[in-house]
Amino acid sequence: MNAALILAGGKGERLIGRDKPKQFVEVGGEPLIAHGLRSFEACAEIARIVVVAEDRWRGLISKCVERNGISKFVRFADAGAARQESVFSGLLAMEDFMRADDLAVVHDAARPAVTERLIRACVAEAARRDGATPVLPVRETIYRSEDGRGVSGLLDRDELFVGQTPEAYKFEKYLAAHREATREELARTRGGSEIAFRFGMDIGLFPGDEANFKITARADLERFERSLERGPEAE
Ligand code: CTP
Ligand code: MG
Repeated sequence: MNAALILAGGKGERLIGRDKPKQFVEVGGEPLIAHGLRSFEACAEIARIVVVAEDRWRGLISKCVERNGISKFVRFADAGAARQESVFSGLLAMEDFMRADDLAVVHDAARPAVTERLIRACVAEAARRDGATPVLPVRETIYRSEDGRGVSGLLDRDELFVGQTPEAYKFEKYLAAHREATREELARTRGGSEIAFRFGMDIGLFPGDEANFKITARADLERFERSLERGPEAE
């Protein structure tokens, strides 16, 4: 059966003026992580949930798991220094119960607006291939620049997509890719599908959801607060 890997091991350094990493900031009476956990709890395709987090936040998460009746939660995994190292740590923590073709569904705790429907779409696409990641089209023009001061290349916007989570991967292949990668490669990786693609996995793209944005800065937090008050349609 498929399992969710919820990434809550980051420090949220770009969201200033808060006394805790963004995934634990309360919005609508619950820490952000709770909103995502509820969607995974509600999704029939997901049997278990593993949460990557530093020791100091586990008490808060456990309380929130209890309060929200997250019965699929099974354990914590240690946070890594970079996001992809946290993914690796989480995959290792699932090894005893995952079969080769079960899907590890990786999600950022900092994306509270994930829906059960998006998780289902992700699982369906990944089941047909080695993995899947939700994407949005790029709306702005993107230039390539080696030094940030002059244009050094042109990119075709039609070939570019913005990645979101949840992303899902066939467990054995994805774990093997992490085992083969060097520490430096893992530390440099920005998106979960980078490592999958580099090690030859066939990764499908499926339509993401504008409302499933990642909380990075204060304005994102305010946007999520507003969407809870008025419903996502009001965006
Ligand atoms: N994450 C993680 N382990 C890390 C880094 C990030 O589990 N070492 C998680 C974050 O908790 C978040 C998700 O990965 O849910 C996306 O990362 P990002 O938005 O970059 O979060 P932070 O790294 O915490 O924030 P910042 O980059 O602003 O410091
Ligand atoms: Mg980060």
